[in-house]
Amino acid sequence: MFSTMITYFPNSKVFRLDTRTTSYAFFADPNGFLLHLHYGARVSDGDALVALARREQRPSFQPQPAGVPWPFSRDTAPQEISGVNTGDYRVPGLSIRWDDGSLAADLRYVSHEIRPGAPDMGDLPGAFAGDDKDVETLDILARDAARGASFHLLYTVFPATDVIVRSVRIENTTDSPFTIERVASAQLDLRRDGLHLLQLPGAWVRERHAERLPLGGGIHTMRSVRGATGHSMNNAFALLSSDATESQGDAWGFVLCYSGNFRADVDTDPFGSTRAVTGIAPDTFSWKLAPGESFQAPEVFLAYSAEGVGGMSRRFHDFMRGHLIDQKWAKAPRPALVNCWEAAYFNFNAEKILAIARDAASLGAEMIVVDDGWFGRRDNDKVSMGDWFENSAKVGDMADLVRGVHDLGIKFGLWFEPEMIGEDSEIFRAHPDWVMCIPGRDRSIGRYQYLLDFTRPEIVDAVVDTVAGLASRAGIDYLKYDMNRNHTEAFAAALPPERQGEAAHRFILGVYRFHRLLLERCPGLLVEGCSGGGGRFDAGMLRYTPQIWCSDDSDAVERTRIQGGTSIFYPCSTMGAHVSACPNHQVGRITPFETRATVALAGTFGYELDTTKLSDEDRALVPKQIADFHRYHPLTLAGDHYRLSNTWSDNAVDAWMFVAKNRSSGLLSVVRRRAVPNGNDVVLRLRGLDPAARYEVGELGVWSGDTLMGAGIPVPVPCHDAASMRLPIRRA
Ligand code: GLA
Repeated sequence: MFSTMITYFPNSKVFRLDTRTTSYAFFADPNGFLLHLHYGARVSDGDALVALARREQRPSFQPQPAGVPWPFSRDTAPQEISGVNTGDYRVPGLSIRWDDGSLAADLRYVSHEIRPGAPDMGDLPGAFAGDDKDVETLDILARDAARGASFHLLYTVFPATDVIVRSVRIENTTDSPFTIERVASAQLDLRRDGLHLLQLPGAWVRERHAERLPLGGGIHTMRSVRGATGHSMNNAFALLSSDATESQGDAWGFVLCYSGNFRADVDTDPFGSTRAVTGIAPDTFSWKLAPGESFQAPEVFLAYSAEGVGGMSRRFHDFMRGHLIDQKWAKAPRPALVNCWEAAYFNFNAEKILAIARDAASLGAEMIVVDDGWFGRRDNDKVSMGDWFENSAKVGDMADLVRGVHDLGIKFGLWFEPEMIGEDSEIFRAHPDWVMCIPGRDRSIGRYQYLLDFTRPEIVDAVVDTVAGLASRAGIDYLKYDMNRNHTEAFAAALPPERQGEAAHRFILGVYRFHRLLLERCPGLLVEGCSGGGGRFDAGMLRYTPQIWCSDDSDAVERTRIQGGTSIFYPCSTMGAHVSACPNHQVGRITPFETRATVALAGTFGYELDTTKLSDEDRALVPKQIADFHRYHPLTLAGDHYRLSNTWSDNAVDAWMFVAKNRSSGLLSVVRRRAVPNGNDVVLRLRGLDPAARYEVGELGVWSGDTLMGAGIPVPVPCHDAASMRLPIRRA
């Protein structure tokens, strides 16, 4: 379909990477510096692009590299990756501590290779080419000018989805060890200033509330040193032209494919350039590399769109569904489930589970999930963390319970929290030395639990063995993989002092190892990620868990903000979303049962309640809601998502659409977050339709696509708090 994705122009040493609508270009200058030229709209020049690197002459305060004539300065040069202590004073991409104690990095181009497909990321999650024969990788080899260590800058081009994946691999091709103190996955020097930043800050039960802010001079940092991506800042962000909206303007997105400590800096310099650098958080990282060893940094996914934030989102959605999420699940229908957490908390037994399962099955549910509280002596969160064997007094033999549920014709899911160990547990009594801690220092406790030292593969393997053993013995179909505390006292007991900077990264490699081994042992298992709700909602986890519980906040109104923010980068089909009981357990809000369904239908659908306790009126709606799930689920799994309101503002009305790729059908969902007395009419301009076609929009009549998109239609959503409408769209 595409002729050439990666073109090398030997005269100028320009590399141009083309996708369907974008181009990315840089070149190796005569001194070997890798200088960025362009990332944005697709362009057709090659050699001529070199002119874009030209910078004005600056006063001599900016030193120039030895042998390179003034006015070149690293401090103003747009670089593909920059070092430290050699004249670039902006946030660096690389920082290396050599064996003499010096800190510097000075990369020069040596050679390159263009290969079909995507690179193997080894122990890390990464994007794959799948069936796409057009995917190509450019591997640039650069060497440190003084020491000769090798740096591979990897660029994989996914032309159809308009995504470029970058990462860096460092090889110690010298005779002495050195320490990596910082390695970015990517750095992008854009010759633009006055940009806006779109970021996803939040907190537990308030994750990923999109925030848009103008960038002034200086450095803006987004990071987590919590041992995981965390609730308080996601590791995906976007730079926007100041005029960008949901549907037009420039948007550059950065999605880090990683689940541990991260740091992203946006550095706006005084000369009209903006640098974005993202990767593992250097704050909690160093990695000693012995001669012959190599280190692979995680991937970062880049997408540019001239169709604003929405265009960028759809590129990432298509890309992740096609090249990141396990293809067995990416577009496969998920079961409409009933999760027992908010239904029963710790207070259940086999009988109660079977009663809920029987009732749920009779209403059309397809899976029951037994959450926390089924194992060890677990009747509250103070005991038994890590004892992954059934509390037989409570649930009997797990295989019998699963059989009982299967006999009802529905699937069975079970909750685990594999990275943890509680002090009052069998596992702690048998292996007190498995706790991650610093010898001689107090251990901080979170939710009455410690972390297992997942930096040690043998501990990971032992836990996988127990979890996979039970999962296969009992025949469970789905596993909810939770993680409920931030890290403290990171320390890798098996490593020497000079390698302790590796602990946090090795821990997350242990988590990925767990997932790979689990799926090897139980290939048919559907794994839902979770971390106190959405505390580890990232592309790294999506490689192994095709869906992630989006938040412990199940209130429909709050969820519109959380899910809207999440959808800026991640496909809606990955967002765990359930209808829960009212008053809502997190915020006490009362919302219509149908609004709760409208919002949950934007993700993987289910119920977070005891169906036997529903009112007759609500019960009667459940089969209809599940039928709607089956009707609209193909759209969330494979269609295009359009947000009709700005996610970064707390609008009184929130609206979104899903549209089939062939534009023949869709779903329009509208939620009135709060009533405004005697407020504005709700008039929505739809998106993504065929302007020449005619569409039936729910009961609102038949309209032409151009009217629906150009003029918009008045939508009679009732003027009450949390009122909602969902309107099917069908080509007439
Ligand atoms: C976390 C999860 C919840 C639930 C509880 C159980 O908070 O996010 O969904 O599983 O743990 O303890």
